[in-house]
Amino acid sequence: MPPISEILLDRVAIRRRVEELGVQISRELAGSNLCVMPVLDGGMIFAADLVREIHLPLAITPIKASSYGEATISSGTLSLPFGIPEGISGKDLLLVDDILDTGLTLNVLKDRLMESRAVSVRTCVLLRKESSRHLPADYLGFDIPDRFVVGYGLDHAGLYRNLPDIGVFSTAVDDKLQQ
Ligand code: PRP
Repeated sequence: MPPISEILLDRVAIRRRVEELGVQISRELAGSNLCVMPVLDGGMIFAADLVREIHLPLAITPIKASSYGEATISSGTLSLPFGIPEGISGKDLLLVDDILDTGLTLNVLKDRLMESRAVSVRTCVLLRKESSRHLPADYLGFDIPDRFVVGYGLDHAGLYRNLPDIGVFSTAVDDKLQQ
């Protein structure tokens, strides 16, 4: 049994919202030199579904960024283990990530990518926590409560990204599994 105490967003709700975002992005970014940048690792599942709902010519260039490691609280420092990918210059970038928490990841990436002479950098985030409501995203899937969630790309210590629904992580269930 996955360590989930409550399903917050099931796969049907996620799919519907991803389709809506795809329609909106296809309409608003038509004519741009679009390059979608999944933010690895958490953004990969969302991005993989989203790009198939964007009906525009686009490139896909993932970027690896990490600030949490195995912890549940941000370290406050963003690590880009593979640096900034090449070929960003002249592109209209769309960063695609699973969750907006402190905003560190997307803020640092936006700055670094503009320094690399991207034409524009937009953000598309599936989830935004209650405490992050003041942080903007160009495209947003859902506002959610301040709970630790896993599934659909979101992990706990590297696990549970493959769960098709998004649920509240339950330490109690997880502890039981370890016994
Ligand atoms: C998570 C998540 C976002 C970021 C959001 O990544 O995938 O990229 O944190 O938090 P922030 O708004 O406070 O920056 P993490 O650093 O855990 O790496 P991962 O994607 O490999 O899990």
